[in-house]
Amino acid sequence: MVGHEPPLIAGRGYFRAVPLHVAPDLGDTVESREEPSDERLWASTTGPATVSPATQGIPMTVLELSRWQFGITTVYHFIFVPLTIGLSILVACMQTAWLVKKDPVYLRMTKFFGTLFLINFAVGVVTGIVEEFQFGMNWSAYSAFVGNVFGAPLAMEALLAFFLESTFIGLWIFGWNKLPPRLHLATIWVAAVATNLSAYFILAANSWMQHPVGYRVDPGTHRVVLTSIVALLTNSTLLAAWPHVIFASFVIAGMVVIATSAWHLARNSQTDVFRRAMRIGLAVTLAAGIATAVTGDIQARLMDSQQPMKMAAAEALYNTSDSASFSLFTIGSLNGGQELWSLRVPYLLSLIATLNPHGTVQGINNVERAYDKKYGPGSYKPVIPVTYWSFRLMIGFGTLAALLAFAGLWLTRRRRIPRARWFYRAAIWGVALPYLATTMGWIFTEMGRQPWTVFGLMTTAQSVSPGVTVSSVIISMTVFTLLYGGLAAIAWWLIVKHVKAGAPVQAEHPDGAEPLPVFSY
Ligand code: HEM
Repeated sequence: MVGHEPPLIAGRGYFRAVPLHVAPDLGDTVESREEPSDERLWASTTGPATVSPATQGIPMTVLELSRWQFGITTVYHFIFVPLTIGLSILVACMQTAWLVKKDPVYLRMTKFFGTLFLINFAVGVVTGIVEEFQFGMNWSAYSAFVGNVFGAPLAMEALLAFFLESTFIGLWIFGWNKLPPRLHLATIWVAAVATNLSAYFILAANSWMQHPVGYRVDPGTHRVVLTSIVALLTNSTLLAAWPHVIFASFVIAGMVVIATSAWHLARNSQTDVFRRAMRIGLAVTLAAGIATAVTGDIQARLMDSQQPMKMAAAEALYNTSDSASFSLFTIGSLNGGQELWSLRVPYLLSLIATLNPHGTVQGINNVERAYDKKYGPGSYKPVIPVTYWSFRLMIGFGTLAALLAFAGLWLTRRRRIPRARWFYRAAIWGVALPYLATTMGWIFTEMGRQPWTVFGLMTTAQSVSPGVTVSSVIISMTVFTLLYGGLAAIAWWLIVKHVKAGAPVQAEHPDGAEPLPVFSY
């Protein structure tokens, strides 16, 4: 044991002392974790893993405000990210279809959805930059502790993926009418692949926080040091999260295509482009919805072994159970401790968590006792109502989007254009469903990991910047919120203007000598 003054964890109003372990998670079965046994000890208070005297007694409000700020800016940023991921590939497919089939409808589609993609990309980049600032601003203790590991995937994202993405998006925008058609097509494909690669690196950083691998804690500096970039980039948590996020992004892109097409079809405008676009959107949303559920199921089993508290908190399951049911809806106390009425699917929780209807799912109380033993006495429960409802709402909103897509495919069979007004209304408003689902997914993932920022290594309370004051967080949060409000208004105005204008009417053959229409805003 090398630590003396135990670091702190959030208590009521002020932090309460609990020892910080540098040990990894419970029941861990992970490959390639490097951790000398002598470092499975208490962390020293001199290292950044611990709380400096300056942070002791930080009023909860600084921590809470910093968490709110991170939550608001991240949720806002992730409104733009998934559409960029999904739509980049869809636009590349539309342009490919134009080159292969030589059908001008696909060119008009490419131009229309390509411009939508560009507006969204531009706003997404701006909001992403703020994310990086946050680490230095409000979470400097965290940054100092994990910088050596966490910085690697972030640097790879910026220098490799984002560099490729933005360069090739530029080539795509300015290459119309200048580059040979096939070379021009290659530029959007490179941009689309780089966008998805970018998501991989960002999720590598996040997955390391959920399940740290490929590191050791330096006994001199008490900071984490990267020992294996391969382990970090092949983290089992990452391999499960990436496809889930990519498919969820396709649900969003598909629903955006559906909603914009519905707006035009409801007005009988440009039906040649939007009937076909509608069918593409519907098929993509349904297929991606199913794939998101399958990958989510894989993630849930991994989560059960790596973060059993998160699984128990997803169901507000207090006592360890075999053949555990999954409650679709519960009326009872807010923390799930007392239940008055619930609608349950028998065996489903055991099935999700263990792939066995009679499998054992650890309860919150059991896991809490195990964590107490492993990490020292403290509270290791996340906010149960938040985890319980965010998990259900993620699945619920996603299921509604997939059902809507299924209904739409039925209504548009055999080249029909649906006449039902309810369908158009549902398709336009339904665009909110996958956005709500992804927001709930992130809230569940991040809130379910609490009280840790890096699971088993560093708590959120220990991560906050020592010098930050309540007023400074309030000022930065107000500025961000106002800026984001303005940005949202501009983005919304551009999107609505573009959607109303519809697809460009001029269309060309891929080999045609006439100039092709350029983007317009
Ligand atoms: C049966 C359906 C689903 C299941 C079983 C499921 C399962 C999960 C699980 C277990 C997590 C947390 C992983 C972790 O913290 O380690 C998660 C996160 C997430 N989910 Fe889902 N999910 C489902 C549907 C959806 C849908 C339909 C969407 C969006 C359209 C979605 C979007 C997300 C997002 C954005 C995250 C956060 C990123 C991540 O950790 O992967 N999920 N999901």
